[in-house]
Amino acid sequence: MTKPGTIRITCAPGLIDYLRQEVEAMDYLVDSSEPTGLKITACLQDAMRLNLFLRTGFNVLYQIGKFRCINPDELYTHIEAIPWEDLISTDGYLCVVSSVNTPTITDWRFASLKTKDAIVDRVASREGSRPNSGSNRDRFVVHVYWHGDQCEVYVNTSGKKLADRSYRRIPHRAPMQETLAAGVVLATGYDGSTPLLNPMCGSGTLAIEAALIASGRPPGLLRNNFGFMHLKGFDSEAWQTMRREAKKVRHKKTPAPIIATDIDGKAILAAEKNAETAGVRQLIEFKTCDFADTPMPDNKGIVIFNPEYGERLGQISELETTYHDIGDFFKQKCSGWTGYIFTGNMALAKKVGLRTSKRMEFFNAKIECRLLKYDLYEGTRRVKE
Ligand SMILES: C[S@@+](CC[C@H](N)C(=O)[O-])C[C@H]1O[C@@H](n2cnc3c(N)ncnc32)[C@H](O)[C@@H]1O
Repeated sequence: MTKPGTIRITCAPGLIDYLRQEVEAMDYLVDSSEPTGLKITACLQDAMRLNLFLRTGFNVLYQIGKFRCINPDELYTHIEAIPWEDLISTDGYLCVVSSVNTPTITDWRFASLKTKDAIVDRVASREGSRPNSGSNRDRFVVHVYWHGDQCEVYVNTSGKKLADRSYRRIPHRAPMQETLAAGVVLATGYDGSTPLLNPMCGSGTLAIEAALIASGRPPGLLRNNFGFMHLKGFDSEAWQTMRREAKKVRHKKTPAPIIATDIDGKAILAAEKNAETAGVRQLIEFKTCDFADTPMPDNKGIVIFNPEYGERLGQISELETTYHDIGDFFKQKCSGWTGYIFTGNMALAKKVGLRTSKRMEFFNAKIECRLLKYDLYEGTRRVKE
């Protein structure tokens, strides 16, 4: 893994464009891309760096095998041929995850079981004992992609998804996944030079991701556990040096104000605590209030709403009023700002009553969502939908 090989970086549906931009900004050439991931050629050190800096990626996977395979016995034989004893210690812990679409297997768990057996049998035959195994993805994780007669095997250098930044100790109602929140903030073009308002902030994910972006803090600095740390021969010194260098890349300039508000005092308490854990509490002004009373700085900037979309019928009529009132807030208080609403309910979005200038597609878990952009011109250019 010290030599350049294939690295596959995965992401949630809807985030690939932002992931690609991030990867290219780190000077990697994208070899190929698909809706939920892309491939580059790089080595383990690069994988560590990607884990540290990426905001929209889920997992950084390093390829250690690629072969033709048409049945589970062939899978076992190919996997057993890989020198696993060089990668995992006998006192390690192994988890196998598979994505399978091949006629000879109907249950992906069988591919995982075969892979796990092949790995532990190989290690036991070489080292005299075998690592433990199970479903926890916090240590040595192997991914198998077996589609048709092609099988690719990867070591997951992230371990748990990078979406788990570890700052959100206190979740609130319907929190947004951290990688999605980062993608939404990046989609607005936000760079910290103008104010950012996040009324209805809930547990503060959008404001916290914005603060991390504005101050140039790599999100990986917040985590103390990655898959690569459980690889045999993990170079802890190289990792510490990389972390020290990453701390130096912080932007020197203080970002413009970031203001996050919510009507629910408990949400604000959770958001404050989360921001503190993320190390950005001092960059965000929090306030418990109705969104219409969100303090407005003099300089214009970006305002992002993530209102609830409503699952039950009774909720919908209440939310129609909320979306209508957001439209009024945009019209009355946000002249000259750029407004954004992230929602999974386009019927509700119509109640805003303003024309969108852009609609960007995202997914929140399985729900298709849109980030709607509103250019809130001053004067006459505002057009009713
Ligand atoms: C979908 S959640 C936001 C989740 C947030 N993006 C996160 O990642 O945690 C919507 C939030 O809107 C807040 N809210 C609802 N009505 C409000 C109002 N009139 N004024 C301010 N906040 C309101 C709720 O308390 C809730 O926290």
